[in-house]
Amino acid sequence: MELLGKTVVVTGGGRGLGRAYCESLAEQGANVVAADIRDTGNTIEAVKSAGGHAIGVHLDVTDPISCNDMANAAIEAYGRIDSLVNNAALYGDISGGRFDQISDSQWDNVMNVNIKGIWNCCRACVPSIRESGGGTIINISSLAATYGMPYALDYAMSKAAVIGMTRSLARELGRDWIRVNAVAPTAVLTEGTEEYMGEKMEKALAVIASNQALSANLEPKDMVGTISFLVSDASKFITGQTIMVDGGTTLL
Ligand SMILES: NC(=O)c1ccc[n+]([C@@H]2O[C@H](COP(=O)([O-])OP(=O)(O)OC[C@H]3O[C@@H](n4cnc5c(N)ncnc54)[C@H](O)[C@@H]3O)[C@@H](O)[C@H]2O)c1
Repeated sequence: MELLGKTVVVTGGGRGLGRAYCESLAEQGANVVAADIRDTGNTIEAVKSAGGHAIGVHLDVTDPISCNDMANAAIEAYGRIDSLVNNAALYGDISGGRFDQISDSQWDNVMNVNIKGIWNCCRACVPSIRESGGGTIINISSLAATYGMPYALDYAMSKAAVIGMTRSLARELGRDWIRVNAVAPTAVLTEGTEEYMGEKMEKALAVIASNQALSANLEPKDMVGTISFLVSDASKFITGQTIMVDGGTTLL
């Protein structure tokens, strides 16, 4: 995949899947902006020690000013933005629970980070992507959105909204040659998944794998190809789509 010289912003790039995306995109020649409310030091160190280009930026996706500062830092470092990977979300940082026992504050936080956060980052980055002559936005949804996920109504709803936002933005931004797609993974073995599933993880992962045509659990390295493809010009006529990376759980 040809990513040389493309500037790609990855939100939530401090750990887990976001970090894997940063490392892989940089390895393929992209200039990476790893943006996170967490420290991004480990990501930047890993990219640089592999010979890649990356900067770390502190970002709170719920704060439009922070999002603008992030976009400005990207432009200052690399002169342009070509792609935005909206990966930041409340996932590992929240706890599951019955639908009527989710606290109001968790509900509001999940919607604020997982939905409004994407809108904020798009508002901050689209002017620069447009100025670059077009580019790509990749929004991270989840199998939870299409399959349903018990004890995670807030999370599953927020990830379903990501698909709706992707479709509307794709139609609106096509005239600027900005392609907008979503990626919906099944459970991936990350720190976030360990935190979210806790002691039930082993059993849950076995059930998830048994529902797939390809019966195994995903690792972060299994996700990077889809992201690279959607960032690259290899996916030039794909927009508004949701790509399920779920081992064949959902067959569209
Ligand atoms: N791991 C999975 O099984 C899985 C499955 C489907 C979808 N996803 C999605 O993939 C993405 C990454 O998942 P992960 O497993 O690496 O989870 P994770 O919880 O480790 O990563 C989320 C990242 O977002 C960051 N973040 C949270 N709030 C933020 C804010 N306000 N501003 C900026 N950054 C913020 C966190 O610091 C963290 O680095 C998430 O969107 C998640 O919903 C994960």
